Amino acid sequence: MSSKILVTGGLGFIGSHTVVALQEKGYEVVIIDNLSNSSIDVLAGITKITQQTPAFENIDLRDKTKVKEFFEKYPNIEGVIHFAASKAVGESVENPLLYYENNLASLIYLLQELQAKDNAYFIFSSSCTVYGQADDLPITENAPVKKAESPYGNTKQIGEEILTDTAKINKNFKAISLRYFNPIGAHPTAEIGELPIGTPQNLIPFITQTAIGKRKELSVFGDDYPTPDGTCIRDYIHVMDLAKAHVVALERLQQKKEKSNFEVFNLGTGKGSSVLEVINSFERSTGEKLPYKIVGRREGDIVAAYADTQKANEELGWKTEKHLDEALKSAWDWQKEVVKREEKDN
Ligand SMILES: NC(=O)c1ccc[n+]([C@@H]2O[C@H](COP(=O)([O-])OP(=O)(O)OC[C@H]3O[C@@H](n4cnc5c(N)ncnc54)[C@H](O)[C@@H]3O)[C@@H](O)[C@H]2O)c1
Repeated sequence: MSSKILVTGGLGFIGSHTVVALQEKGYEVVIIDNLSNSSIDVLAGITKITQQTPAFENIDLRDKTKVKEFFEKYPNIEGVIHFAASKAVGESVENPLLYYENNLASLIYLLQELQAKDNAYFIFSSSCTVYGQADDLPITENAPVKKAESPYGNTKQIGEEILTDTAKINKNFKAISLRYFNPIGAHPTAEIGELPIGTPQNLIPFITQTAIGKRKELSVFGDDYPTPDGTCIRDYIHVMDLAKAHVVALERLQQKKEKSNFEVFNLGTGKGSSVLEVINSFERSTGEKLPYKIVGRREGDIVAAYADTQKANEELGWKTEKHLDEALKSAWDWQKEVVKREEKDN
């Protein structure tokens, strides 16, 4: 029997691109997703790109019995890439228990099943939110984890603590936590991409929805920050580069290259871009004009965050290949595809 990789949340934004990257490397993939923030149509998008349909199980990971039954059905799962989680910061403030249950109970149930295996590889979706406003830039993995600003951020910190404690007592269990900076963009075929439900919380979907006319204008929250042009700075990483990093991280564990059985890596480009630079890049790469206005600062926004990529570059042997312009162009192509599909459905 060949080994299989479980991708939880594999129909979501980052998960679907990672499934493509895994299949292109010859991995057999099984997806678990409860479709709470994704559509079953994504499965067809993946199939169109790779000519392979991954196995799909519609399971809610909060159902402990279902999780157990899943591992009985697929005894040869060798590695798990765990994307499934709720991710809206604002919603997590409104409904903390939903976030603690969805992001932590799911993690615990998966780990309880993996504990029993002789060899289990686990890749965890973490976030640069764990650093808060870091004292030094670029941010290294050694920067202190700051008190979380939201229940969502806290679930990522607690998730990493759960992994630390699990790895400590079980040497057969090997885990890597990947701290993403700001994932953006879409597959170059525009078959899959980001599908925000409701008003987008993130800059890029807001930009593309504004450019296509779904929203009147983009609000830029504050131009009086201590940055060169006064707007906030983030490290935007193309989702295709991010997807590849997951494959590399998995291979590191399979090839026994890890330095300890729980490791942490930043995933970013190492380059910070301000909101105004992103707007310029979008207009340059797509030829579209973006209506925007400067408004007051948004509560909770940090000034600047970008990754020190040295550890990921040297130890994972991975680095980003795609430029911001390319990422924004792909996000725009995906936005046009989404509208085309919506028009066809109506
Ligand atoms: N997108 C970002 O900006 C970002 C940044 C840092 C970290 N992350 C983390 O990366 C991961 C993936 O993010 P994404 O942007 O692809 O999100 P997404 O919402 O597009 O994907 C998550 C997927 O998980 C599924 N899911 C959620 N709860 C589930 C459950 N209980 N059982 C089964 N499936 C469930 C959803 O239906 C969705 O398809 C998340 O853990 C997120 O916190 C994302």
